[in-house]
Amino acid sequence: MTWLVTGGAGYIGAHIVAAMQEAGESVVAFDDLSTGDATRIPDAPLVRGSILDPAGVARALHRHRIDGIVHVAAKKQVEESVRRPLYYYQQNVEGLRILLEEARDVGVESFVFSSSAAVYGAPDVDVVREDTPCAPVNPYGTTKLIGEQMVADVAAATGLRFANLRYFNVAGTAAPELTDRGVSNLVPMVFQRLTERMPPHIFGDDYPTPDGTCIRDFVHVSDIASAHVTAARGLREGRVTALTANVGRGQGVSVREMVDTIRAVTGTAGEHWAEPVVEARRPGDPARVVASASVIEEALGWRARWNVEDMVSSAWDGWLRSGHARRMVVSA
Ligand code: UFG
Repeated sequence: MTWLVTGGAGYIGAHIVAAMQEAGESVVAFDDLSTGDATRIPDAPLVRGSILDPAGVARALHRHRIDGIVHVAAKKQVEESVRRPLYYYQQNVEGLRILLEEARDVGVESFVFSSSAAVYGAPDVDVVREDTPCAPVNPYGTTKLIGEQMVADVAAATGLRFANLRYFNVAGTAAPELTDRGVSNLVPMVFQRLTERMPPHIFGDDYPTPDGTCIRDFVHVSDIASAHVTAARGLREGRVTALTANVGRGQGVSVREMVDTIRAVTGTAGEHWAEPVVEARRPGDPARVVASASVIEEALGWRARWNVEDMVSSAWDGWLRSGHARRMVVSA
């Protein structure tokens, strides 16, 4: 069986490609290289193409005799999705529709879809279960929820086996060359501030949480990758046929705790200038988003292995070896 990993040259996709290869699976990466980087996948075939190009998708599926797809290619920036909703509908909804149509035509059997905790919006619960009502609060989350429903509808009509995996807050790296090069989430944003010898920002400390800062469920990208390997195998072996599952650790960590961990790992814990500065709340941030991870554990025996120190120290290693730190030193 050969798997096509769309978005395979991106941060998460490349981790999935590497983990599937390590697990002995046959994998082909498919990426338009708009944000992906071919150097992230030295050992797997890479097809350069767009999911918006039906003929290109069909060629890749035929040529590589694909019978399973892990669909990661998508746009994922919440703030951008608010500014450019139609772009997100085109990339995340129309792209998926085309992929599913071509997959149906060649008889692809299994489909793993990258979904997100963003489908829940701002859930007012301690622990988010898969049956917690979905109420996305931005176009990004809406496109992921529509995607899940589209996959399930196609599955009902064709017998496609599927797993919709709802990632919580992904961080860390398995190897420096696979690192996240975007600076749009808490961990890299704090790295950037510290690299510039500026205090990290905490967006709001008046939330109804023990230390007043937001709580999230951070999960190592290596755990995200292993969840895909497990789901892909479960689908192939028929142990699961229609799964929608959270992928998190089931443990809440506050923004302040995360910033403290980052300061410890980066050796800036004792530095006065590195004390975090509390800024205004960022609009749209829910106070607490923590997964119940029991569905995926019960269905597939998967659970997260890595903790926040692992995430932060691996990400810091990747950061130091990437262009970021060098660029900032030069521009300082
Ligand atoms: N934050 C800070 N300071 C910073 C950066 C972030 O305090 O410099 C805070 C945010 O305000 C938020 C928390 O850190 O409270 C986490 O923020 P991120 O931007 O890292 O992540 P989000 O929880 O906002 O969003 C993430 C993914 C989205 C996904 C969402 C689903 O980035 O793609 O989880 O819950 F939609």
